[in-house]
Parts: sequence; structure tokens; C-alpha cells
Amino acid sequence: MSTVHQESTELQWGHDYLMVEPNHFRVDYAINPFMDLNDQPEPLHTRAEWLAVVAAIEAAGGRVRVLPQLPDAPDMVYAMNLGLALESADDAGDPDVHVDRRVVLSHMRYAQRRMETPAAEGWFAANGFTSKSVGRDGVGAHFEAGDAFAWRGELVVGFGPRTEELALKHLATDLGVSVQGFRITNPGMYHMDLGFCPLDDTRAMVCPAAYDDASAAALLALVPEPLVLTEEEAMTFCANSIVVGRTIVMPACPDRVRAQLEEWGFEIVIVEVGEFLKGGGAIRCMTNPLDVRIGRDLATVPGGRVTLA
Ligand code: ARG
Repeated sequence: MSTVHQESTELQWGHDYLMVEPNHFRVDYAINPFMDLNDQPEPLHTRAEWLAVVAAIEAAGGRVRVLPQLPDAPDMVYAMNLGLALESADDAGDPDVHVDRRVVLSHMRYAQRRMETPAAEGWFAANGFTSKSVGRDGVGAHFEAGDAFAWRGELVVGFGPRTEELALKHLATDLGVSVQGFRITNPGMYHMDLGFCPLDDTRAMVCPAAYDDASAAALLALVPEPLVLTEEEAMTFCANSIVVGRTIVMPACPDRVRAQLEEWGFEIVIVEVGEFLKGGGAIRCMTNPLDVRIGRDLATVPGGRVTLA
């Protein structure tokens, strides 16, 4: 069977990121299979790795804004989980048009991370974002923003280990967008961003072993040109990467994966973040895109819509 190669367009978002400066990164509890209290991050290595991620994003033409870490929030370095930031404008192309910014704050599954939310809310408010949430302080649906991606006009959301299915309905109706939900069943891939990484408008890395059968099939059907990862490949955290134009900033990249990405014309920049792997996260987890736009990256769907496999 021959593959039909469509013309691919770069992701429009992914040029502007929020990161949390890792001044208090520790493994104080174990809420995912990678965390081990006997294997603590080393502060100087942590800082060097974090600075290397910042430098790689900037070298690729992106921008990084920085939020200081709270001393009692050791996992706050995984800025992706602070919330889902969205902008909207009447005329997406015109820089003079007023841009409206909002953020759906995460409602963390584990109480250990819930003190991050007020800090995030303060930063987003100070930077012109209106906050919303689907639940708070343990009441209402859990939603962790690492589970959500804008892709091909829809919000692709993983649920199960962290985000709850009910959150998808809130996201769809509150934002007026289409949400496609995928059930994560693999405890090692507890966030969507460990088994899925959109690359451009037709290509994405997908690890079917992260999901139940119906969701794996639906996700593969959604992606015109999937780069299918084995579970072993995904466990390198290669899908926990970010795309800045045609550059992919990755924590690791197995040779087979690299060959396909290069054939597709991507430039691969590896930044090793071994200290952050100790908390169960890598580059996508450390970075939160602020430039996802409703009306451009997400189609407006009055009343919202949820599709499950
Ligand atoms: N220790 C953090 C947690 O378990 C890691 C978060 C990783 N972030 C991500 N977007 N996958 O919540």
C-alpha cells in the first residue's frame, strides 16, 4: 500500500510558552509510576537542563515567559498542568484586533498539586487572562491541561488517569468547541502528552498502547499520517516534545522515530532533561503554550460537542 503524502502546514500555535523556574523541584510524593522518593533531582543539573530547554525554544524562534515556583509546590515545574490557555480574536490575522485571553485552570487529580492552581491563576490574571475552571479544590470534574491539545480544529483530550470524562463536556460547552476524548488505560502514560504529539496539521506521534482499543483506533483514524510509537519508544518520553514551527524540541528520540521525522522535514533538537524525568515529565510537561487560538486552531462550535470512541 502506498502512502499518500498530503501537503502539511505547520502548527500555528507553539511559539509562546509559560515555564516555571525550578527553584524548589523535588520528589516529595509518588503520584505516577516514575516518581521515587529515593531518587531526588540534583538542583544544579535541574537548572542547567531547564535553561537548555529555554535556549532551545528561543533558538527555534519561540518565546518563554517565566513564573517563579512556589516553595511548597514541588511539581509546579511541569507548567503544562497549570491550565489550558486560549486566545480568541474577531480577526485572527490582524495584529491590531483586540485579543481576548482566557485560561481553563487545571483541577488536579491529586491534592498534592492543588496549591499550584492559585499561583497559576495569579500569573494568568496579571497577564490579562480571564480564568475559568471545571472544578476546584477537589469538588467537580478533574482536568489536567497536559491532557489537552488543539489539533485540526478540535480539542483532543485524554481522560482516565487524571482528567475525568465529565470534564470534556464542561470544556466543550464552556469554550464552544469540539472535543474528541480518548480513554487512557496505560498507567505509565497517565497524561495525553506521553502518548500523543501533534507535529503539524496532518502528522502526529501516536502510541496506541496508551489507550483502550476503541480509543487507540479512533486516534489512529483521526491522524492522517501517524508516526506510530511502540510502548518502548514512548517510554523514552519522545512524544513529550514540543514543536516550534518545523523544529521539534525533544527529550530523546529513538533512531527509527528520528528517521521518520527527518524524512518529513523536521529539525530535531534533543535536550536531555533527566532530572525532570524523575518527576515523570519532560519537555512538553515543562512548557505551556499561550498562543492557541479559538477561531484558528480550534473551530467555534456553538454549544460545544463531545465525541468519544
Ligand atoms: N509529577 C507530575 C505529576 O505526576 C508530572 C507531570 C507531568 N506533566 C505532564 N504534562 N505530563 O503530575
